[in-house]
Amino acid sequence: MRRLQLLAVLLALLAAAAAAEPVLRAVTDVPSSASSDGGGGGSDSDALFCDSWMLSVETGNAGPWSAIPARCGDFVRAYMEGERYASDSAVAAADSLAFAAQALASGDGGARPAWVFDVDETLLSNAPYYAVNGWGSQEFNETSFDEWVAVAQAPALPSSLKLYNELQGLGIHIILLTGRSEFQRNATQVNLFFAGYRSWEKLILRQPPDIGKTAVQYKSERRAALEAEGFKILGNSGDQWSDLLGLPMATRSFKLPNPMYFIS
Ligand SMILES: *[C@@H]1O[C@H](CO)[C@@H](O)[C@H](O)[C@H]1NC(C)=O
Ligand SMILES: *[C@@H]1O[C@H](CO)[C@@H](O)[C@H](O)[C@H]1NC(C)=O
Ligand SMILES: [Mg+2]
Repeated sequence: MRRLQLLAVLLALLAAAAAAEPVLRAVTDVPSSASSDGGGGGSDSDALFCDSWMLSVETGNAGPWSAIPARCGDFVRAYMEGERYASDSAVAAADSLAFAAQALASGDGGARPAWVFDVDETLLSNAPYYAVNGWGSQEFNETSFDEWVAVAQAPALPSSLKLYNELQGLGIHIILLTGRSEFQRNATQVNLFFAGYRSWEKLILRQPPDIGKTAVQYKSERRAALEAEGFKILGNSGDQWSDLLGLPMATRSFKLPNPMYFIS
């Protein structure tokens, strides 16, 4: 009797194993219409392609680029206007705060712990400007962008404002390091106050000798100067890899999403 029961159990197990999905599954292949920029396979394959294109932008795989792919205009608009942009930004901010709290708790901040923030698409959102300028599908127009900067009414990226206040609450020195030029200092300050940013340790803008430098060079030089002043740059938040790369780097760098434009 015992033997028969065992046999029945074994047979049932074999039958179940035969009916089940294989444990190892192949990766689903991508439809050819979605696999390259040239495709025109309809809105589903555009959405799939553009989601992958954006991942390549965020990782830096895309390298330098000057305008979003023509088929991704709707995708970028929907991303920027929808909850995904807010959610991606909020997760980056939460990761930043968790790191900052842990670093301070373990004494890594030294005497002058600092956090570097970029301004555009990091503290401030220029979405109102890009909404009427094709969301990155048009070539960058410095004249009209500077006019927008002078208006000084870019809203805050909400998760960045929250992080900013939380880092200040932890006693971290806040440094703003922007590719904007010195002549835009007033408009930038007015805009930061408008958006809810109340105070900072330094607001660093490009000086005349910095004009023409890549952001990587200019920002690295300023981080080096900050370290020479005794700041320990725990964190750096920016929407471009050029905000973050180059020596010296922050202990941790936090990349915010930006599918609208690329700065080297
Ligand atoms: C750039 O913007 C300025 C100011 O709005 C405008 O006069 C000019 O025509 C624009 N240039 C291009 C190439 O669109
Ligand atoms: C600073 O900028 C604001 C807004 O653009 C403007 O109203 C104000 O007159 C400027 N102040 C100075 C001193 O330039
Ligand atoms: Mg930026």
